[in-house]
Amino acid sequence: MSFKRILVTSALPYANGPIHLGHLAGAYLPADLFCRYQRLKKSDVVFVCGSDEMGVAIMVRARKEGVTPQDIVDRYHPQIKAAFERFGMSFDIYSRTTTSVHAATSQEFFRTLAEKDVFTMKTEKQLYDPEAGIFLADRFVVGTCPTCKNENAYGDQCEKCGSTLSPMELLNPRSTLSEATPQLRESTHWFLPLGDFQPQLEKWVATHPEWKPNVLGQIKSWLQEGLRERAITRDVPWGVPVPEDVAATKGVDAKGKVIYVWFDAPIGYISATKEWAIREGKPDAWKDYWQDEETRLVHFIGKDNIVFHCLMFPAMLMAHGGYVLPENVPANEFLNIEGDKLSTSRNWAVWLHEYLEDFDPDLLRYALATMLPETKDADFNWAEFQTRVNSELADVLGNFVNRTMTFAERFSNGKVPELVRPNDIDKYVLKELSKFPERIGSAYDRYKNREAVFETMALARMGNKYFNDSEPWHSRKTDLQQCANTIHISLQICASLAVLMEPLLPGSAQKLREMLNMDSVVSSMPGGSKEGITWDDAGSPLLSAGHKLGQSSILFSKIEDDVMEAQKAKLGTKPSTMQSTAPTGVEGQEMEELVHPPVKDTITYDDFAKLDFRMGTVTHAEAVPKSKKLLKLQIDLGFEKRQILAGAAEHFKPEEMIGHRVAIVANLAPRQMMGMESQGMVLMAEGRDGTLSIMQSTGEDGATIR
Ligand code: 2FM
Ligand code: ZN
Repeated sequence: MSFKRILVTSALPYANGPIHLGHLAGAYLPADLFCRYQRLKKSDVVFVCGSDEMGVAIMVRARKEGVTPQDIVDRYHPQIKAAFERFGMSFDIYSRTTTSVHAATSQEFFRTLAEKDVFTMKTEKQLYDPEAGIFLADRFVVGTCPTCKNENAYGDQCEKCGSTLSPMELLNPRSTLSEATPQLRESTHWFLPLGDFQPQLEKWVATHPEWKPNVLGQIKSWLQEGLRERAITRDVPWGVPVPEDVAATKGVDAKGKVIYVWFDAPIGYISATKEWAIREGKPDAWKDYWQDEETRLVHFIGKDNIVFHCLMFPAMLMAHGGYVLPENVPANEFLNIEGDKLSTSRNWAVWLHEYLEDFDPDLLRYALATMLPETKDADFNWAEFQTRVNSELADVLGNFVNRTMTFAERFSNGKVPELVRPNDIDKYVLKELSKFPERIGSAYDRYKNREAVFETMALARMGNKYFNDSEPWHSRKTDLQQCANTIHISLQICASLAVLMEPLLPGSAQKLREMLNMDSVVSSMPGGSKEGITWDDAGSPLLSAGHKLGQSSILFSKIEDDVMEAQKAKLGTKPSTMQSTAPTGVEGQEMEELVHPPVKDTITYDDFAKLDFRMGTVTHAEAVPKSKKLLKLQIDLGFEKRQILAGAAEHFKPEEMIGHRVAIVANLAPRQMMGMESQGMVLMAEGRDGTLSIMQSTGEDGATIR
């Protein structure tokens, strides 16, 4: 099917922390490459995104810092927006889900589905935290996953095995807000009966055998398991309010009830498109992009969002009626960093705003695009970043441009020489050049970005090889016309590169176009010129003989080893910039913004005297299979040995623990964790930023601590 227009969405990032490379590799860089390419093709494309500002993720962050959810989103939304802009994300709009347009759009959606009797309603007992005075939805409650026994599963999802959960399904639930044991209280909620949509969804998914295998694999396993209803309202004080009129028809008080974040967030794509249309002065234009069959809707996301974009949101769109469904959802897998799982709490992450303080965005766009987790999890490491920059951008692309410009300046007076009687190699290279727009473009169009990068660099490699094989340094002494022909064709390759590398390296492409003094190119940015050289034009020679070139300069400089070492050293070593309050991230300021948890209720001396703290030495430490958090420690108390499972794996490597003197609670009742017994607890100090430090003492093993 051919499409008239394209609507592209990137997952709305939660406005509860800055953007890191994991985000970029999942939903953002791939989408930007696609959109910039499409604009150069002169496709009608609108690219929307914005901050996801509702939901418990925001509230949890706010509680942790002792500020309001509004404070959190007001801090992170502008930070995220600015970092995206500097990275070169070419959104037509970057909105947020706290706008009035979004509230109205979400409520309209909810109302329509309620009127169509799509929802079911249930009054059920739910977990309630009597201390915090709040129902424990989603991430306010953790407990043991009934499927995989992960002890830290959230109330809405187990991140370990991917099961969707409801808080009541958790074994041993605990409030993340207080230590209070949850109570059961009744509340009424709206549910989306996803099972009712299963036949329709199955039929629709079957029409997309071309989707990525990782996406289809996940969808099929959800469908095989059978879709279950999902509660789409919550009793929490932050979110889009449940419309009062809808609640009233059911005799329910809407006060304190909000729409579940995974119901409103994808509607955020529609609200953002509406806001874009209003800003463009054609308020109804959003309808063309959402409600006309000839729209190609593409959702770029990370793999953790597949179920919501491939099943839940499509079911909502089907239920509402009149909306297009996604043509594709090219979800990427996860990005590891230096061989280890990305973790924001351990600061095992590369933060975009920090990267941008040190390097050009183009270098990251290029290097990351070569490492995208398109089919399986991939690894970002600084050594490979350096190799991509030095051996590819500088040695291949930059070198080719530099040699060509230098020869043109020295032997052709800074002008494009005439091509006269090209030889067979010249003709072959021009013919090959003509194939590159289609070759690179088709890769972008099929969401194969790594292939597109490879093909882009293949053009530069072809240029370099042609230059070498033609040996203009010889022909300038023996055959001046042949030398001129080599310069002519090399310049044409440079000019084509200046268009074809635009999606990947927009800043460098612009610089190259200035060096070549090229005519204007159709803009790959929204609102830019729609006239000029297009993607397809780049298969033909773009510079005419006699054209005066601009000033040449170095496109890419090499990066030294010590610069990479400094980047590597940042990993895991300092408080996470999750807490950063300003883009400049002044450390002292960051810490001041964080609050200490309040002191717990007073206990009597007798309560205290019941606790038996002892000194010990860690004699053995190992990771616990399938657990992110736990380390299995053997501790020598002098008079006996203990096995203790400590939640320290995200902070210490097992070998760092061995030999450490530790203080333990020696009379804590043994607990079973991950099928093993833990015989006590190791005392550690938890900083405001979540970092753990082992308590130090020189007392002998077995010494009593008072
Ligand atoms: O997983 C996340 O970070 C979510 N904030 C993504 C939302 S995507 C969409 F539906 F808005
Ligand atoms: Zn699980």
